Amino acid sequence: MDRKKKAARYLRVYQQIQDLILQTSDPISKMSTIIAILHHKFDYYFWTGFYHLNDAKLTIGCYQGSLACLVLESKGVCWKAKNTQETVIVPDVHKFPGHIACDSRSRSEIVVPVFKGKNVMAVLDVDSKELDIFDDIDAKWLEKIVELIY
Ligand code: SME
Repeated sequence: MDRKKKAARYLRVYQQIQDLILQTSDPISKMSTIIAILHHKFDYYFWTGFYHLNDAKLTIGCYQGSLACLVLESKGVCWKAKNTQETVIVPDVHKFPGHIACDSRSRSEIVVPVFKGKNVMAVLDVDSKELDIFDDIDAKWLEKIVELIY
């Protein structure tokens, strides 16, 4: 998908999510809706979900895709996003030291922290079977989308 098409699709998806989640203030309902929409609107998304900070561990939340690791202890891409409080883009997961492979078909990944005020409450994780598929456009829009949660 070229950059222009991708940006236009994210704008439409953002507006759709914004309209839908007006119905509730429940973060879990908002997260489930975000995952259902994102996962089906982008062909290159293979696994889409949230991990929540829970008792100093990242624990699986709502997701779509193949069976996920339930608990992430302390390493990997999700923990890097949590610890740095910044979006992490991994063009090739095989080259990321400590990457946790829940499904060996995943080749690239983006993880976006979810803030409530200054605290990271969760991370949004998206995996793709395609190498080097995520860029600054995905990062910008996913960051805007997760701002709608809290
Ligand atoms: N790859 C992640 C683990 C979660 S799965 O991709 C669903 C990581 O390294 O943190």
